[in-house]
Amino acid sequence: MSSTLTKAEKPSIKIEHTQCFIDGKWEAAASGKTFATYNPATEEVIAEVAEGDAADIDRAAKAARRAFDSGPWSKMDARDRGRLLYRLADAIEDRADELAALETLDNGKPISESRQGDLPLVIDCLRYYAGFADKIQGSTIPIRGNFLCYTRREPVGVAGQIIPWNFPMLMTAWKWGPALAAGCTIVMKPAEQTPLTCLRMAAIAQEVGFPDGVINVVPGFGPTAGAATVKHPLIDKIAFTGEHITARIITRDSAESLKRLTFELGGKSPNVVMADADLDAAAQGAYIGLYLNQGQCCCAGSRLFVESSIREPFMEKLSALAAARKVGDPFDSQTEQGPQIDQNQFDKVMKYIDQGQSEGANLLVGGKRVGECGYFIEPTIFDNVSDQMSIAKDEIFGPVLSVLTFDDKEELIRRANDTFYGLAAAIWTRDLSTAHEFAARVRAGTVWINCYDAFDAAAPFGGFKLSGHGRELGEEGLRAYTENKTVTVKL
Ligand code: NAI
Ligand code: MG
Repeated sequence: MSSTLTKAEKPSIKIEHTQCFIDGKWEAAASGKTFATYNPATEEVIAEVAEGDAADIDRAAKAARRAFDSGPWSKMDARDRGRLLYRLADAIEDRADELAALETLDNGKPISESRQGDLPLVIDCLRYYAGFADKIQGSTIPIRGNFLCYTRREPVGVAGQIIPWNFPMLMTAWKWGPALAAGCTIVMKPAEQTPLTCLRMAAIAQEVGFPDGVINVVPGFGPTAGAATVKHPLIDKIAFTGEHITARIITRDSAESLKRLTFELGGKSPNVVMADADLDAAAQGAYIGLYLNQGQCCCAGSRLFVESSIREPFMEKLSALAAARKVGDPFDSQTEQGPQIDQNQFDKVMKYIDQGQSEGANLLVGGKRVGECGYFIEPTIFDNVSDQMSIAKDEIFGPVLSVLTFDDKEELIRRANDTFYGLAAAIWTRDLSTAHEFAARVRAGTVWINCYDAFDAAAPFGGFKLSGHGRELGEEGLRAYTENKTVTVKL
C-alpha cells in the first residue's frame, strides 16, 4: 500500500507577498482583517494574508477601470502588450524552482508535479497568448448597398477572475493570459486556500513592467470578496472556475449588471476501456487520469467503464499501480501523491468512501487515511459500482476511482452520457470507428482517445451541461475576453 508517511519538512521559503495588490501597491485590507493560509501536509499556518472584502474589491475595480479607460494600458500597442506577457513568462521561467516550491507549500501537490507539470504549462500558456496579442483581428463584411462594413475585436473591459485552489498558478495563467492579450484589465480573487503564488505572480508582473492597475489581486473569501467582484458595476465580465453550485450563485448575483460569464466547473468524466485496447497504456491512463493532483482535477476520469470481458486482467494492472502509488511528503522528489487541500475536502472524500461501502460497492484498494497529520488519503478503487450509487454520480474530487463494467456500445454511450456533467471523456481502443463514434456521441467538451489529460494552451477546454459555459484556452478562450464591434461607413 501507499508507503509510510515521512514528516513533511518545512522548506525555507520566504513569503514576501501577503497583502492586497491594488493599483500597483501592496496594501492591507481596508478592514485590517487577515486570514491564515495553511500547509495541507502539516496543517501548520504558513502565513497570515490580507482578507479583502467589498471595500478592497471596490478600490481594485476602480483602479482596473482607470487603467482600462484612460491609463497607459488603453494606449499601449497590442505588440507591446504581447512583449510584456513574454517577459512575464520569461521571469516565471527564471524563478520556476522558487515558484514551484511556494505552490507545493500552499497547495500540497508533489514538488515534481509543481515543477515539471504546472510550471511548464503556466509558462507555455502565457507565451501562447503573448503571441496572440497582435493577431486579434476583425473582418470586412460585404453588406448590401454602397457601404464599407467591418468589425473590430475589442477588449471586453475589466475582467473579474475567481479561481480555485487545485491549480493556483495554472488557473492564474489561464485567466491572465487571454485577458491581458486581449487588452483587458484584471481584478482577481484567488482561492482562500492558496493565495500565495497568485500574489507572487502579481509581484513579478509589476517587476517586468505591467502598468499599475492592469493586474489587481484581492485575496479573501467567496461570499465576501468573490461576491463583491461579481456584483461590482465597474467590472464587465466574470471568469470563474470552481463548483457549479457557486456558478449558480454567480449567475444570480451578476443578473443586475448582466455581466459576461465564462464558467469552468466540475465533472464526472467517463473513461472507457474497450476490450481491444492496449491494456497497459489504458491502465496507466486510468491511473493518471484519476490520481493526478490527488484526484483534485475538474476533468478527472472518475467513472471508469471497463468492458466486461477484460475486467480481470485490466483491474489487476490498475490495482497494482494504485497500490504502489507513493503518498507522502510533497517536498520529497519521489512522492507521487500529497495531501488533499483542507479538512473540508478531506472530510468530503472520506464521506464518499464510507458511502461507497454502505451502498454495496466493493472496496478493492485503499480507503483509509494515511498518517495522523495532514490530509493524506490512500489511492482508492471501488469496483462493482452501479450507475445509481453516489460514488458513480457525484464529483468526489479526491483519489477515489469508481469502476463500472459494460458489454455493449449502445449501452455504454447511454450510460456515459447519463450525468449532469459534461467536461471530459476518454476512450481506449485500437478501433478507429469505435473511437470516433464515441467522440461524436459523448456529450463532453474534451474527448481524449488513447490518452488522458493531454493539455495544450492552443486547444480549447470547457464543458457541456453543468460543467460550464464557454471555453478557455485556444482562440476561443481569447474571444471570451473580447466584444465584437460592427462599423458601417456610407461610401
Ligand atoms: P468553490 O466554487 O466554492 O470555490 C472556488 C472559488 O470561488 C474560490 O475562490 C471561492 O472563494 C470562490 N467563491 C466561493 N463562493 C463564492 C461566491 N458566492 N461568489 C463568488 N466567488 C465565490 O469551490 P470549493 O468550495 O473550493 O470546492 C467545492 C467543490 O467544488 C469541490 O469539492 C469540487 O467538487 C468542486 N471544485 C471544482 C473545481 C474545478 O476545477 N472545476 C475546483 C475547485 C472545486
Ligand atoms: Mg465553496
